[in-house]
Amino acid sequence: MKKVLIYGYSGAGKAVEYSLDEREYEIVGYIDDNVEIQGKTVWGGCPVVGSEHIKDYEYDYIVVAPFWRSKEMLEKLGTHEVPHEKIVIWDEIHKVKKLDYRIAQLRVCSDVIRDNRVDGCCAEVGVYKGEFARYINEYLSDRKLYLFDTFEGFGDQKLERGELRSLSERQKMEFQDTSVAEVLEKMPHQENIEVRKGFFPGTAADISEDTRFAFVSLDCDLYKPIMEGLLFFWPRLSHGGYIFVHDAAGFMWPGAKRAVDEFCKENNAVRLPILDRCLTTIIMK
Ligand SMILES: C[S@@+](CC[C@H](N)C(=O)[O-])C[C@H]1O[C@@H](n2cnc3c(N)ncnc32)[C@H](O)[C@@H]1O
Repeated sequence: MKKVLIYGYSGAGKAVEYSLDEREYEIVGYIDDNVEIQGKTVWGGCPVVGSEHIKDYEYDYIVVAPFWRSKEMLEKLGTHEVPHEKIVIWDEIHKVKKLDYRIAQLRVCSDVIRDNRVDGCCAEVGVYKGEFARYINEYLSDRKLYLFDTFEGFGDQKLERGELRSLSERQKMEFQDTSVAEVLEKMPHQENIEVRKGFFPGTAADISEDTRFAFVSLDCDLYKPIMEGLLFFWPRLSHGGYIFVHDAAGFMWPGAKRAVDEFCKENNAVRLPILDRCLTTIIMK
């Protein structure tokens, strides 16, 4: 049995763990330099520790499961004197640049929506800089795409007090550095975009009960807008349509998991978790 350390928590780390043949590899630890994650226990029961603890482990390989920071992570491994031959960079195994799995999954779901003529518009709640929305606009290019966001971060929306307390100061301040203009510039089919700026679900109040949706992305991190999104879009989702809920494993954003768990239970909805970098769950009708 080869012993493996996984460097980089998040969905990328979980994708590594679930993709390794467990008859040949044993995960002995998780390393991450994000102090907000350290000390927590992850999937296989190993606690997450900082890279300064790599020296405390016996391992055959350290697999770098990069999210955004692979260069920085490799430099860190250098400072901790990890032997070069023990380092495996997960994304380099296939030596090709891959789409994030969520985007690849969107691509194949878009094919099914088109092939089966699933009726309806598309929507994303939680757009930020439009990185995912641009692919929705590209793959379902003939559909109207509603983009819901404050475009100013979380703002002072009313959350459950417990959820607000559970966020770190950094999390509370995230996603403010964007604008409608920056997002629109990325969209290949701007003529089909309808921007709804402000707090969801208030910004959806005039969308009628008869409006159908074929594809919806809920990527707004917090329990309340995700639950409200599920309650709003589920009755409007066409048969054969999909709702993608980002971060639904709940490690970074526990409210997302709670909303999905409660919603699926109460509505008898079927879900499919996927192994993308942020552990999206797909809810289908
Ligand atoms: C994780 S970011 C979205 C990332 C984006 N989907 C992407 O793939 O790059 C979360 C976004 O949710 C937005 N958001 C959170 N609560 C919201 C609400 N109630 N109404 C509108 N937008 C909200 C934030 O402003 C932020 O831009």
